[in-house]
Formats: sequence, structure tokens, C-alpha cells
Amino acid sequence: MGDKILVAYFSAETGRTRKAAEGIAKLTGGDIFEIKPVEEYTKSDINWKNPFSRCNKEKIGKKDVPVSGKIENFGSYDVICLGFPIWYYGAPNVINTFCKDYEWSGKKLYLFATSGGSGIGKTADKLMPYVTGAKIINAEVLQNAEDLKNWVSKIER
Ligand SMILES: Cc1cc2nc3c(=O)[nH]c(=O)nc-3n(C[C@H](O)[C@H](O)[C@H](O)COP(=O)(O)O)c2cc1C
Repeated sequence: MGDKILVAYFSAETGRTRKAAEGIAKLTGGDIFEIKPVEEYTKSDINWKNPFSRCNKEKIGKKDVPVSGKIENFGSYDVICLGFPIWYYGAPNVINTFCKDYEWSGKKLYLFATSGGSGIGKTADKLMPYVTGAKIINAEVLQNAEDLKNWVSKIER
């Protein structure tokens, strides 16, 4: 009990992940931070059907996606709830870039995602190199309000 919670999320396409993040912040009483790329995504940027779109170039080039703003008191949080849409069966590049900016030792990390149908797959394993020292306790795709409540109930605090 008494753990300080941060809900950090990225949402670009439909706002589904934003909605989930807001629900989690409400249920946990955590602070919320939106992970926004310095250069925000336009609709054509995230058109994965176009092989030359920004998102495909970033994915193929394993590019960093700089994040706007910084969480100054990141060190004061015990629990981080990190949310994103599944892109190419994993976390979007901007999430990796976000994670690289912070010190993760001792953090309890909970991942939540929304998707167009994919499961969470190896998303947590792929993120591990960017959150050295954190303990990833849970990672799930949330499909509905029931999933969200269930996911929140698994947070150790
Ligand atoms: C570039 C890109 C890649 C995506 N890759 C996947 C995928 O591999 N599997 C999947 O189920 N959905 C995929 N989606 C769909 C999103 O995960 C889904 O629409 C998500 O709920 C969007 O959340 P948001 O509106 O908060 O951004 C992809 C969407 C985009 C834009």
C-alpha cells in the first residue's frame, strides 16, 4: 500500500489507448502522462498499408522517435503503468525511445495495450532491453472495460 502510481501512455489512431489510460488513472488514483512524439503523427504517417509511410520507415530503420516533455519526478514513482497500441506485434518505437530516457531500477512495470486483434505476444520481452532493472509484472491487451478492471486488480500496491 502507498505506492505512487504513474500511468504513461501513447495513443495515435482512434484514442482507444487514451481511453484505457484514463480509466486506469481513475481506478488507481495515479498521475497520468501522455507520451507525445515531438513530431506528432498525422493520419498518413501511420498508414501501415503504405510501405513508405513514416511508421514503416521508423519500424524498418529501428528509429528513435523523440518524445515531447519530460517527467521530472519519475524517480518518485514505484509503479508505472505503460500503455500503447500494438504496432507490428509489439510496442511502437516511440515507447522504446520514451523508456530509454528514464532510470527503471526497482520499478514495478505493468504494460497494457490495445490492438486491432493481435494479442500481447512477445511485447514485454521486446521492451526489456529498454527498461533495465524494472520488474515487468503484467502485460495484457485490454479489449473492454471488464479486461481493464481485471488488469487493474492485479496491480500490487
Ligand atoms: C502502424 C500501425 C501498426 C499496427 N499494427 C498492429 C498489429 O500488429 N496488430 C494489431 O492487432 N493491430 C495493429 N494496429 C492497430 C492498433 O493497434 C489499434 O487500432 C489500436 O487500438 C489503436 O490505438 P490508439 O487509437 O490508442 O492509437 C496497428 C496500427 C498502426 C497505426
